[in-house]
Amino acid sequence: MKIIAATPASQAHTPPTVPPREEIFALADWVRLAERTSLGKMLDIGARPEILSFALGLPAPELFPAQDYATAVTQVLHRDALALQLGPPYRPLKQLIVKLMEQRGVECREGQVFLTSGAQQGLSLLARLLLNQRGQVIIEETAYTGLHMAIQPFQPKVLTVSSDAETGMDVEELERLLAGGARPAFIFAMSDGHNPLGVSLAQAKRERLVELARSFRVPIIEDDVYGLISYQDNMPAALRALDERWVFYVGSFSKIIGPALRTGWMIVPAELIPKLAIIKDLSDIDTCTLSQRAIAAYLDMGHLPAQLAAIRSEYKERRDLMIGALKKHFPEGTKWSVPAGGVFLWVTLPAGVDTIDLLKIAVEREQVAFIPGAAFGVAGDSVAKSSLRLNFTYCSRELIEEGIMRLSRALKELEVN
Ligand SMILES: Cc1ncc(COP(=O)(O)O)c(C=O)c1O
Repeated sequence: MKIIAATPASQAHTPPTVPPREEIFALADWVRLAERTSLGKMLDIGARPEILSFALGLPAPELFPAQDYATAVTQVLHRDALALQLGPPYRPLKQLIVKLMEQRGVECREGQVFLTSGAQQGLSLLARLLLNQRGQVIIEETAYTGLHMAIQPFQPKVLTVSSDAETGMDVEELERLLAGGARPAFIFAMSDGHNPLGVSLAQAKRERLVELARSFRVPIIEDDVYGLISYQDNMPAALRALDERWVFYVGSFSKIIGPALRTGWMIVPAELIPKLAIIKDLSDIDTCTLSQRAIAAYLDMGHLPAQLAAIRSEYKERRDLMIGALKKHFPEGTKWSVPAGGVFLWVTLPAGVDTIDLLKIAVEREQVAFIPGAAFGVAGDSVAKSSLRLNFTYCSRELIEEGIMRLSRALKELEVN
């Protein structure tokens, strides 16, 4: 368990400042303190087209349902005179989401659905709803980087709990923090398809986590963007299925239809929706009307079940191919999880390998990219230094083994130097 102040104590209460002489603009304090890391720069290089990338959590482009979606868009544009107008959140889409949530074991009502411009916006809206400047949050030691970004403007005190590779978040540590007086604005959790760990939260832990939220009256933000991408027959239900008051659910169409649609949703207590609507208004006014209506048409035409089946079966093949290649090419002592859902493998190399150093060689000499484990820790935290996150959904089957071979060569080069 760690307690980390995201803002050094010496800067804790600096008033808005006159910029130092060499700076032209007086930027907001949190932006001035926010730094682009060398890792960020490396990842820019990793995004170049000649680089084989296991870095981002992107869907396989060849599985986008472009034809069916084109039909949906055309239909909406022909039939719906308001498809290009601003408008209130589209009720038919909310109703279809209520139905979709049944697949996550969740019962909810249209009045609890809040449409967003993607899950990242959902996280950002919830941070603004719940978190005060220099408030507290509880997250796992190794957590989704977009959550760090969403809370950064509040310069919060970040309390962390560790996670087990097989069963997920350590809920006993969480209990000790809460019983010890922590009063976070929220607990951030991913119950399935965890980014970056790939782990699914054990059932007993799900129940304990929700009990703790209830008894300490702390909301859980459940990020479930990968919840519908499952490789097992009996998918566990989302945390939101266990409590409709203390679990705020965040979902998205990004991973199941396409991220460019920039459309997602939240399931929250109905009484919070008017306040969320104010924050959404000041953020981007409206979720793209055309996307809302075209997604509704696409779902209504009944295309999603086949799309989900195609994604699940192809991604499972790719996951297994990547694991097979790791077994073949990586050194003894390397460990990885076998994810039951989601799009990431979490790989831990034998102690002593720093995966930030590995990334440099991998990108510059072998033209292959991944994200080093350290990127998922809170600033200054060295947890997961010898781990790396590999996405197995974006690269075609043919390129997966090639990429893993290149990475193993980079690892050998690192050991020689
Ligand atoms: C865990 C997690 N949450 C949220 C998002 C953002 O999703 P969206 O495209 O819906 O904003 C991502 C995207 O990679 C993600 O991995």
